[in-house]
Amino acid sequence: MKIFLDTASIASIKPFVDMGVLDGVTTNPTLIAKENRDFLELVTEIIKIVPGPVNLEVVSQLADGMVREGRDLAALGANVVVKCPMTGEGLVAVRRLAKEGIRTNVTLVFSPNQALLAAKAGASYVSPFIGRLDDAGHEGMKVIEDTVQIYKNYGLETEVLVASIRHPVHVVQAAKLGAHIATMPPDVLDKMIKHPLTDIGLKRFIDDWTRAGLKLPERRPLVVKTQH
Ligand code: E4P
Repeated sequence: MKIFLDTASIASIKPFVDMGVLDGVTTNPTLIAKENRDFLELVTEIIKIVPGPVNLEVVSQLADGMVREGRDLAALGANVVVKCPMTGEGLVAVRRLAKEGIRTNVTLVFSPNQALLAAKAGASYVSPFIGRLDDAGHEGMKVIEDTVQIYKNYGLETEVLVASIRHPVHVVQAAKLGAHIATMPPDVLDKMIKHPLTDIGLKRFIDDWTRAGLKLPERRPLVVKTQH
């Protein structure tokens, strides 16, 4: 399963790029606004450092405006994916952008029916928001299970991008259901790295090494052999 970060923070993205565990990034207007930076400058930097799709969301409400914005965003880099909202206008924009070869992600999806329509319109990705469904007393993961099954039944190639993830258990559940991508806040990805037994085990190894007075062998300069 591909791992995306749901953030527009460069400082949060960089360490995970260095670890080689990051496949892409999702942003939304709320996350962009949080950074308090010039939009173009910020997203250009993100597009440069992320080794995969960078999802940027349109803010127009009508299809014509979304298509215009989508073209401009896509022109910023080959790895840009244009996020359009799950509305009738959004689906029109997705269809038009897909015809131009621009990848789209239909966002704010809360039901398998919406996910089916997004795929039919030609979306490359669909984003069911599972955490917000859980918050409202529904079973968010059920939408993932149903969407994965529906796409399989009909050979639909749209990738299921599990969004609004709140904790590491959501990630495991999404992976077991066969979702293509999980996007999560940096603190969730951080928690996925950690396990208390890893920390306890590491401390014990280092303590035992130190207590025994062991030392690493001294490093010697390399001797270059000359051939005769
Ligand atoms: C996905 O693309 C959205 O940006 C995101 O997952 C929304 O998550 P939230 O419900 O935590 O705001």
